Amino acid sequence: MIECLNISEKVIRNHYDVSTLFYRMLWGPHIHHGLWDADETPRVAQLQLTERLASNAEIFSGARVLDAGCGMGGSSRWMAKQFACEVTGVTISPVQRHWAALTATLQRCRPRPRFLCENLERCHFDPGTFDFVWSVECTEHLFEKAQFFQNAARWLKPQGRFAICAWLVGRNETDPDTIRQVQGVCEGMFCPSLGTQGDYENWFQAAGMRIVKSELWTEKVAQTWEICKRRVDRSGVRCLARVLGQNHTLFLSRFDAILNAYRSGAMEYGCFIAERT
Ligand SMILES: C[S@@+](CC[C@H](N)C(=O)[O-])C[C@H]1O[C@@H](n2cnc3c(N)ncnc32)[C@H](O)[C@@H]1O
Repeated sequence: MIECLNISEKVIRNHYDVSTLFYRMLWGPHIHHGLWDADETPRVAQLQLTERLASNAEIFSGARVLDAGCGMGGSSRWMAKQFACEVTGVTISPVQRHWAALTATLQRCRPRPRFLCENLERCHFDPGTFDFVWSVECTEHLFEKAQFFQNAARWLKPQGRFAICAWLVGRNETDPDTIRQVQGVCEGMFCPSLGTQGDYENWFQAAGMRIVKSELWTEKVAQTWEICKRRVDRSGVRCLARVLGQNHTLFLSRFDAILNAYRSGAMEYGCFIAERT
């Protein structure tokens, strides 16, 4: 794991409160990478990532799902519509909570997902509440990742599954250039740390879970950042970010850092499925 010490909960919340509108305008209802098999549009690629994770996890009809770090509720609504899942979405951002709830209402989403504004590292659910804990690109933001895996395992029913997509540290965790690149990404993207593929596998196992799938999707997702960069360059978002403050310009300036980290192998993108035994 590589850490970045100057990230706070407040900065993460503020980033999502302020930038959700821009994510929606520039990227779409999902705040995650696209997954490309060929030359699909970004919108299709985003949906493909959601579909691939759901099929790897074997989400079933009527399942109870915790969408941990739900953003604007894109995955939550999709699982409700597609599989009639009963979804609870949790986000640290009050703006995202309202956004997700309003969108579900306007789209007459049934069953209606429930959205909570809470810190996942402090929230409580009864043991055995969920069939699935689903987390797309949120564990990067957590401070005590191993502890969260323990909690998530407890919230799952026996044989319940934890499905994760996450940004990872690449192979050479101790290489100074890898550390420099990963810390640059963490600083701009507000991640207190990134784990390796092996760290995630260890956290699952320490929480008493059996790993069902552990895959790297780096090459299939990396072009996300080329597209985002082009869209930001064509829009007036950079000027707006300057008005909104230093953290927002920092975020926009680090798109190249992620692309380079994927290309150099300093970072990878992983998909994991684990089952409570
Ligand atoms: C990159 S976005 C992904 C959003 C969503 N999973 C998606 O794919 O569209 C990260 C999400 O994690 C949430 N998040 C970060 N830290 C959190 C925490 N400690 N507790 C709850 N949510 C958190 C943010 O509010 C945001 O919604």
